[in-house]
Amino acid sequence: MKPLIVANWKSNPQTLAEAKALFDAVENRGAIICPPFVYLSALKANGAQDCFWSSGAYTGEVSPEMLKDLGVEYVILGHSERRKYSGETSEMINKKIKAVLAEGLKPIVCFEKIQEIRKLSKELIFCFEPSSAISRGGAYKPHPLEKAKKMRQTLAFFPFVLYGGSANSQNARDYIIKAGFQGLLVGKASLDAKEFIEIIKTIC
Ligand code: PGA
Repeated sequence: MKPLIVANWKSNPQTLAEAKALFDAVENRGAIICPPFVYLSALKANGAQDCFWSSGAYTGEVSPEMLKDLGVEYVILGHSERRKYSGETSEMINKKIKAVLAEGLKPIVCFEKIQEIRKLSKELIFCFEPSSAISRGGAYKPHPLEKAKKMRQTLAFFPFVLYGGSANSQNARDYIIKAGFQGLLVGKASLDAKEFIEIIKTIC
């Protein structure tokens, strides 16, 4: 199976014109592109960075139905930045997973510790994201390969686990070939079209 490459643009770029330019440069390469909500409609992207567990009286939230209507297929859930800055708990993330599945969308469930995903169906797409390895827009600090490999081995019964955290064109192959992950969640490096395409080329 081909590795799954997911671009997590986070809160970038700052204008629709820049978002369009970046999207045009990387679409049709088989990756899942997750721009901010406000660009989804214009870009017709196949991924989103989050969603709420319901529709209705929830100010500021976006429902799974809305995403489905726009043609979104994949939804990142439980990213450590949402836990950290938006106070998301495992209980909230579980509700979101159920709502996304009920709408026929595919959740990409981020976790750092196995306890966070222990009760979930092993058939979901997971993404191991050690928070210390996330670039935060600065220098890359990837998780040590041996430790990442150990985590993947611990999850041997999970068919689909991605790696996320300072992934770039230099280390992408190692996380797939040596550590055994089924794909990558790419933050900072997905904002540079050339670099992102290079990642895809090196592992697909
Ligand atoms: P990074 O982000 O590639 O910039 O480390 C990964 C992520 O948080 O999704």
